[in-house]
Amino acid sequence: MTDIDENALFNITLGLYVVGSYEKKTGREVGCIADAVMQVSANPMRIAVSLESNIYTTKCVKEVGELSLSVLPKNTSAELISEFGFKSSENTDKWNIAPFYKDGKLPLLKDCIAVITCNVVDEIDIGDHIIFVCEVKTAKVVKGCEPLTYAEYRKSMRKASSKEKGSGKRWVCTVCCYEYDGDIPFEELPDDWKCPCCQMGKEYFQLQ
Ligand SMILES: Cc1cc2nc3c(=O)[nH]c(=O)nc-3n(C[C@H](O)[C@H](O)[C@H](O)COP(=O)(O)O)c2cc1C
Repeated sequence: MTDIDENALFNITLGLYVVGSYEKKTGREVGCIADAVMQVSANPMRIAVSLESNIYTTKCVKEVGELSLSVLPKNTSAELISEFGFKSSENTDKWNIAPFYKDGKLPLLKDCIAVITCNVVDEIDIGDHIIFVCEVKTAKVVKGCEPLTYAEYRKSMRKASSKEKGSGKRWVCTVCCYEYDGDIPFEELPDDWKCPCCQMGKEYFQLQ
């Protein structure tokens, strides 16, 4: 028995961001989706970004000591979230998926609400994540529209459903975590079948 209901934590309001950085050796752009981002002081202006210890973006941020944030709007595509949030920059050039530009060596999305560049001033190892305490170098509003919140992302893209009937297999969409529960076996669905939740193709599903 535990006193922790994870649903309670999902009520903490968070936005969604593309964290950008680059490889020290080659300058190649890297990045990932993060929701664990918050302003933690005003003077000096500091932001905390919590990144998983073992992802490629973390490795690069540790090496170069700087990162960028692109604040995602409500209409962010599932493809962009899939690319940045479910693949590794180690073997994917994620920034090819959307128009971007560079401030120094830091990549920033052209189509987003606001862009921020930061220097890392402290790193706190908290177990499976590292909190990067960052000092804001530049901050600019790109377009005035509503930011995508983590709660909205979960509501519109993640849908719980039951296991595929009888087989014990679970075909799960890697973009939105929808679990296929139709009567036709997943393998027999037509090639142009799309996830009913986020509209991504069959190739985005994995057997779990
Ligand atoms: C909605 C969403 C929120 C996420 N939030 C975080 C986060 O706050 N911190 C983090 O380290 N990873 C987060 N991730 C996971 C990373 O984006 C993911 O592990 C990514 O593939 C890492 O890529 P990289 O290896 O290129 O750095 C999130 C993913 C999604 C889809």
